[in-house]
Amino acid sequence: MATELDTSGKFDPFVDEHEALHFSLRDLRWLLEDRQSPEAVSQGLFEFSEHVKTHFVHEEETEGFFDSVVDQAPHLKSRADALVEEHAAMLQQLAQLARFAQQGDGSNDWWSRMNDEFERFWQTFCRHERSENDLVQEAFHHDIGSKD
Ligand SMILES: [Fe+2]
Ligand SMILES: [Fe+2]
Repeated sequence: MATELDTSGKFDPFVDEHEALHFSLRDLRWLLEDRQSPEAVSQGLFEFSEHVKTHFVHEEETEGFFDSVVDQAPHLKSRADALVEEHAAMLQQLAQLARFAQQGDGSNDWWSRMNDEFERFWQTFCRHERSENDLVQEAFHHDIGSKD
């Protein structure tokens, strides 16, 4: 029976992690919109970075997210590898954001640039997570279609 997507719960922890990360990002965006203080932004970014690092480790570890996708659909390996490479780039982007936050002087210019840089990261991060979700969909739909 061709159910929509049967991954036997294998990806549930990652779905939960993605959701939790989006809540954290939303909180960070509120902090920026409220223009609380550069220190609050620094602290928020630090917490988010720790959170996201743990998530990337879970995805990359043996039998983690990418292993499960590639086990299921070996032809998706190069796309999985490209997404793993994006992790390092995003951590660099976050480190730059954190440096910029630490140097914050609370001026209008600083808040507006902080906001722009954060939005840039947000877009990159969302695109990345969407690509991961697409990868799972493709891995398992392909499998359903190819079963005898
Ligand atoms: Fe990822
Ligand atoms: Fe992810």
